[in-house]
Amino acid sequence: MQEIKFFSGENIPLELHKTRIVQKLHLVPIERRLEALYEGGFNTFRLTTKDVFLDMLTDSGTNAMSDEQLSAMMRADDAYAGSQSFMRLQKAVEDVLGKKYYLPVHQGRAAENILAKAYVKSGSLIPMNYHFTTSMAHITEHGGKIVELLYDEAYVINSEHPFKGNMNIEKLEEIIRLNTPKNIPFIRMEASTNLIGGQPFSVKNLRDVRALADKYGIRLVLDASLLGENAYLVLKREEEFKNSSLGEIIKTMTDLADIVYFSARKLSSSRGGGICTNDIGIYREMEALIPLYEGFLTYGGISVREIESMAVGLYETLDETVICQSPNYIEYLVNALDKKGVPVIKPAGVLGAHIDAMQICSHIPQSQYPAGSLAAALYLISGIRGMERGSVSNQRDEYGNETYADMELVRLAIPRRVFTLSQIKYVEDRVHWLYLNRELVGGLKFVYEPPVLRFFMGGLEPINDWPQKLMAKFKEDFGDSL
Ligand code: F0G
Repeated sequence: MQEIKFFSGENIPLELHKTRIVQKLHLVPIERRLEALYEGGFNTFRLTTKDVFLDMLTDSGTNAMSDEQLSAMMRADDAYAGSQSFMRLQKAVEDVLGKKYYLPVHQGRAAENILAKAYVKSGSLIPMNYHFTTSMAHITEHGGKIVELLYDEAYVINSEHPFKGNMNIEKLEEIIRLNTPKNIPFIRMEASTNLIGGQPFSVKNLRDVRALADKYGIRLVLDASLLGENAYLVLKREEEFKNSSLGEIIKTMTDLADIVYFSARKLSSSRGGGICTNDIGIYREMEALIPLYEGFLTYGGISVREIESMAVGLYETLDETVICQSPNYIEYLVNALDKKGVPVIKPAGVLGAHIDAMQICSHIPQSQYPAGSLAAALYLISGIRGMERGSVSNQRDEYGNETYADMELVRLAIPRRVFTLSQIKYVEDRVHWLYLNRELVGGLKFVYEPPVLRFFMGGLEPINDWPQKLMAKFKEDFGDSL
């Protein structure tokens, strides 16, 4: 592992890249931010970047691309079938992920759709460490159910456990026995478990899951969307791998899975996605679905330019200087907020810093969406766009009842190599101020609720005039500062 120490003893992440293309940002006045919130139904997904200063909604498709990726896009070979760009991508998938057969799809959830179409039917049960919104939606859409099998420590906010994404092995075996293997088409392991704060699993845990999959003859599916960062935390935290390369760790993990799928929007800082395997039988089970839903087998709905940048991006996930940047910034922000008493998920994980709205807004009941409220409040007082990862992001149960999330989080994504340290310090400053003024944040209610994945386009409104009161306090403390 590469480490750079400062003579001063200060512990700050140092960038091993330089910025060559920049984009102007818009920090609009708080009055405009309030208007934008009303226009966007108090849902940060519905804000436009004209009104957003730091876009910390997601790392999906927002990681900075490298000069090598951009230049590769220029040589893209435009062909419907058999393009050379695709051949290069296929080779990258084999070199990096160790899988010979690759099915291209336009993004991660498209892979989930294909997997569900191929393997999930009414009565199917999919055990997983934890769900991701779209993975669960595709399984339930096809008549299946999921069961989440994390250890209890995964739900402890202030923890030092290095691998909160581990699957509970004892429970997994119990579930397999109870439901019988024939009803379990696959076990799903998600790298850097997104919705519990970007928390990794250990290779040891994945090996234990593999052993049970073998014992009961069940396929093991790895969601590798955040595999690079999971591998980086294995390098930092799992003794056995402290002298390994990222490439060795990634291969060790993918070798354990029968099927690996990913969102290239995350994994390779590009667009696109894929499903890969070394089993020709598995490949054939899904092959016909690609031209039907995605596009011909040598592009799968991805533009050839993106295919080129994806191939280069996959190789770049082997570079520690690329992969370490986001987790190191996250660690910096998490530690800084923690020092100020702001409840954040610990230890720092990947993807972003995760703020615990359940604690910060303990005065807001879950029926009024504490995480949604806090995300809206943070945007109002800072122009920072985070993402609600709580009950708004949950789906209703089969009877249409509200289900409350295990955690109410506001996720502040830190895409790879996008922000500067002074911007991260601004985040720290404004989140701290909001924490000290948390009593002024109030609840939200739905006024428009789409039936599927409601968090994307749903519309909410504040239960009273709390946004106006929060704005007044901001102006009192900050005067005419943006
Ligand atoms: N799996 C995981 C673990 C993800 O984080 C995502 C997307 C997907 C699958 C679906 O991939 O977006 O390419 O269709 N996560 C994004 C996020 C949306 O913001 O966390 P996709």
